[in-house]
Amino acid sequence: MLLPPPAPARVRELLGRAGQPEVLRFWEQLSAEERRLLEAAVQQLEAGPLRDHCQEAAAAATARHREQGQGAAPGGGGGGGTHRNMQPLPGEVTGSTARTEPHRLDNWRDRGFHEISENRVAVLLLAGGQGTRLGVSYPKGMYDVGLPSGKTLYQIQAERIRKVQQLAEERLGKKCVVPWYIMTSEFTLEPTKKFFAQHNYFGLVESNVVMFEQQMLPAVDFNGKIILEQKGRIAMAPDGNGGLYRALMNNKILEDMDRRGICFVHVYCVDNILVKLADPVFIGFCVEKGADCGAKVVEKAYPTEPVGVVCLVDGIYQVVEYSEVSQETVEQRNPDGGLTFNAGNICNHFFTVDFLKSVTEEFEPQLKRHIAVKKIPYVDEQGNTVRPDVPNGIKMEKFVFDVFQFSKNFVAFEVLREDEFSPLKNADSAGSKDTPSTTRRALLWQHYRWAVRAGAHFLDSNNMRIPHLSQLQEAEELPAVCEISPLVSSEGEGLEKYLKDREFHSPLLLTEDALVALGQHQ
Ligand code: UD1
Repeated sequence: MLLPPPAPARVRELLGRAGQPEVLRFWEQLSAEERRLLEAAVQQLEAGPLRDHCQEAAAAATARHREQGQGAAPGGGGGGGTHRNMQPLPGEVTGSTARTEPHRLDNWRDRGFHEISENRVAVLLLAGGQGTRLGVSYPKGMYDVGLPSGKTLYQIQAERIRKVQQLAEERLGKKCVVPWYIMTSEFTLEPTKKFFAQHNYFGLVESNVVMFEQQMLPAVDFNGKIILEQKGRIAMAPDGNGGLYRALMNNKILEDMDRRGICFVHVYCVDNILVKLADPVFIGFCVEKGADCGAKVVEKAYPTEPVGVVCLVDGIYQVVEYSEVSQETVEQRNPDGGLTFNAGNICNHFFTVDFLKSVTEEFEPQLKRHIAVKKIPYVDEQGNTVRPDVPNGIKMEKFVFDVFQFSKNFVAFEVLREDEFSPLKNADSAGSKDTPSTTRRALLWQHYRWAVRAGAHFLDSNNMRIPHLSQLQEAEELPAVCEISPLVSSEGEGLEKYLKDREFHSPLLLTEDALVALGQHQ
């Protein structure tokens, strides 16, 4: 039998220089197609950076191992290091929706709408994650949490963009566009593209939805060797949501923003069902403060809530991630009993385009690499796929907020959790936090509150009015189900004309075309 040709010299040479010749150890057993794919995957990599990446991962794993003082290979995903020089955010950089007088909030809103109407604001979605915790094989944005309308996260977000454009146009009398940049990865690009095309871009203009791809990096074992997930396939993972900055460069996204005249970008993550797209109040606050970089925060719900904390470390603004902070620090309290580190990061960031340019042109190489120790399927020496029970490898990630340290004028903006934060992280089967059920409930509670505020009454099956409840009185049970399309109202405004002094059976769906009582008729 003829032996297959050896791997091309440039592939062998690249892997040799990177210290990874073992990647080709099954070459002779691969089909022609597998060899072609492996060759293409290797050629995407550069020898020098690849060598550094693998060496750094191995060094980080050794350091983590030493820190944890364990006898065997490093295990567990969590960090638990203590940042001794952590300080809470100073009051002077922090704005708040709850502690600001309404007329000042209105000023910020006006400023935000003004910038939007001038076509200076874009939104940028971080959607390259693998959504491993939710356990679905498709992008998280395509998830339907079970609302009466059946809308997915992507559809809700698209409709909120349409609404903010419409509101800006109504206020300032001119047509405007909020372009939507979507960072995907190898895992999410194709299905996301297809989904948007199938749904006709949810009513947005296709050329104003710009999808681009972040880089992938190989996962490595504790000795710094690239892991093969199949004989001819390297285990690759996206380089974290901080891969944004390299992806902006590689895909010339800032040039696209320049062409459109964009000055301000609202960056957000895909899973928060309550996210306010291009939130005019947040944009207005940041612009009025002359900020180049800003973060929205909420009060943490409980000490160990898995959110990062926005704070100072050695005098520098940072987010300390939940996996990287000790139990003692998360539980630290002020004399008044409140948590000392209370500014929960909700992954909603404001950046000026100039700041993004300074990051991509100058600071990106300085971004910290965070290590995530994971169970990564691999092939053993016989070529069999093994699914390990204990962590066996490392993925290196950059975090989007690690650029705060380069800001010349950083601000934080505290918002109310019930209005703005309910993330979808876990499957319903995995527990009671941040699941499809909790996000669905958070959105329906918000819409119920808006409806009641606008003067609606809900009836039970005996046509008796159901007493109004606030979420604080009853955390779990919704008194009535009411969903309001983002195309009708963005923050509960303008609902009186549909709802005031009217009675409805639950569930009620308010769409841009009609009020649809899905339950019994009035
Ligand atoms: C993130 C924040 C955390 C915050 C929490 C709030 C980061 C690093 N952490 O944590 O501080 O408290 O949200 O919900 O921002 N993504 C990519 N590419 C990747 C990896 C992730 O685009 O390579 C995207 C995901 O699709 C998602 C977002 O980044 O939209 C957040 O990623 P995820 O891994 O879910 O972060 P969390 O651990 O939830």
